[in-house]
Amino acid sequence: MKVAVVGATGLVGTKMLQVLEERNFPVTELIPVASEKSVGKEITFKGKQYKVVSVEDAIKQKPDVALFSAGGSTSLSQAPLFAAAGTTVIDNSSAWRMDPTKKLVVPEVNANVLTAEDKIIANPNCSTIQMVVALKPLHDKYKIKRVVVSTYQSVTGTGVKAVDQLFNERKGIDGPKAYPYQIDLNVLPHIDVFTENGYTKEEMKMVNETNKIMGDDSIKITATTVRIPVMGGHSESVNIEFLNDFDVAELRELLAKSPGIIVVDDPANLKYPMPLDAHDKDEVFVGRIRRDESQPNTLNCWIVSDNLRKGAATNAVQIAEYLYANHLIGQAVEA
Ligand SMILES: NC(=O)c1ccc[n+]([C@@H]2O[C@H](COP(=O)([O-])OP(=O)(O)OC[C@H]3O[C@@H](n4cnc5c(N)ncnc54)[C@H](OP(=O)(O)O)[C@@H]3O)[C@@H](O)[C@H]2O)c1
Repeated sequence: MKVAVVGATGLVGTKMLQVLEERNFPVTELIPVASEKSVGKEITFKGKQYKVVSVEDAIKQKPDVALFSAGGSTSLSQAPLFAAAGTTVIDNSSAWRMDPTKKLVVPEVNANVLTAEDKIIANPNCSTIQMVVALKPLHDKYKIKRVVVSTYQSVTGTGVKAVDQLFNERKGIDGPKAYPYQIDLNVLPHIDVFTENGYTKEEMKMVNETNKIMGDDSIKITATTVRIPVMGGHSESVNIEFLNDFDVAELRELLAKSPGIIVVDDPANLKYPMPLDAHDKDEVFVGRIRRDESQPNTLNCWIVSDNLRKGAATNAVQIAEYLYANHLIGQAVEA
């Protein structure tokens, strides 16, 4: 497979290269792409050096698949050009997610919707991905009525500039800012821009994307998304009301045997999921699983995952793996 990584010098792009290598995706030719300022820079993949090229040069090489993580405007303008050249684009930005003609995919939940005709496929928002991986088996078994989620999101979700801001603040250096306020020793109840209804775009992404991925608009969702001075992963406090009752031990077991989930739930031994432990792992970690005693059929849990991995790079590579394994991209399609 000829694979282009668009945004190869960024946080998500770098992680994509790492994940492609680790999972041994069948890359026969790698095309790292970034903005004009990075063209010519060298990156290493599987011990070999590659030169970063421009988007235009990459399209000319007609890759089989292009993994995009270069921001929404680059995706909007460039993804259709790759698609027109026959490339399957898997896009990490929010540009195409709610387009009714584009699939929004988390492989553990809805990979079955993918076909060879899908030339631009959207990767969901990081906080949505980790939540739906846990919601899916629970919805199948107990039917979810309503979800109330509050997030505790890592600065790595904002990109290189935000990580620099946090560490600059720790060192007392006055550098460029990714956030409107200090992030070190602080908490910002604000991710992405505010919308007219008082929620932020990130909060509305969690609502709308969850309904689309789960293929069920009857699930009611409300979200508060919060940035905290943490690296390694996003955490979520999730309250789930079901139509049907459940047994907590059975529910815990169901999660433990569901794909992509590791249950870490042993309060007696102080075991619960934390971003430090989720860092650089592909799974979604679920713990603090307990009944909400304030009303019937309701659960509280705590969900943690590395936002750069399952929240972005790993999910995108898993989509590519699914397409490849099911002959929906590359040589098998041309043949
Ligand atoms: N961080 C996360 O957890 C996360 C999760 C899900 C989705 N995403 C999405 O992934 C995208 C990238 O996020 P990030 O955190 O990796 O940001 P980042 O660290 O700032 O990296 C941005 C990348 O995009 C490249 N780029 C910028 N403009 C470009 C252009 N006109 N043409 C080609 N490449 C261009 C940059 O190249 P230069 O180095 O040359 O500037 C860099 O490689 C965003 O859309 C973000 O919303 C991020």
